[in-house]
Amino acid sequence: MRYVYLAFAFLLVATVSILGFRGSKSSRPPIEIFPDMDQQPKYMPQGESSFFPDGRVDRPVPANTVARGFFSEDDHLAFGKDENGEFARGFPMDITKELLERGRDRYAIFCAVCHGASGDGNGITKQYGMIATPSYMRDDLLNMPEGEIFDTITNGKNTMGRYGDKLTVEDRWAIVAYFKVLQRAQQGTLGDVPVDKRSELGL
Ligand code: HEC
Repeated sequence: MRYVYLAFAFLLVATVSILGFRGSKSSRPPIEIFPDMDQQPKYMPQGESSFFPDGRVDRPVPANTVARGFFSEDDHLAFGKDENGEFARGFPMDITKELLERGRDRYAIFCAVCHGASGDGNGITKQYGMIATPSYMRDDLLNMPEGEIFDTITNGKNTMGRYGDKLTVEDRWAIVAYFKVLQRAQQGTLGDVPVDKRSELGL
């Protein structure tokens, strides 16, 4: 008789441990027999810490410091500003075919989703509710200094995020150059077409 009880108890434990609690939810962490290194004493991004007086894990960049390797004496290149601190017109480098091609490449990756491949503001995100994206043909954008476009890419504007941490200074200028290409492409007049080609337009 004792063996029957024992066998019953064994079966009960076996059934519960194999089948029991399947599908039930628990907010407690699972029992880990071999935890490996799943639980580590570490800080997660944007976490909390009692070590710092403000309680934040992420430390702000100390004021008036420049990360090593990021110092530039050229304000036009680094910030798009002239010597008076105004947004600069023109480019701090020569415009080459390579620069424009780099700009087109980066534009397709970083900007076209919202602003559209031609800069008309009708990227795919418009269908998903990002309706504020402007066309680059907006009057004020046609006249905007290159330095201000650079600054918009670097720091973002209102609902547009910043790309300063994702694109190098050179790549940002390459995009500004391509931005001007897109605008120029939409501003063409008959005068831009060589005389001997005009008849081909059927005008
Ligand atoms: C996630 C969508 C999104 C992406 C990606 C994006 N933009 Fe924008 N952009 C916007 C929106 C939305 C606005 C309008 C912001 C506002 O004024 O509310 C805007 C505005 C602008 C403006 C006008 C700023 C002004 O002064 O009115 C420029 C120039 C611009 N974007 C350039 C770019 C360039 C260049 C890139 C690529 C590096 C880019 N954007 C990537 C959404 C985006």
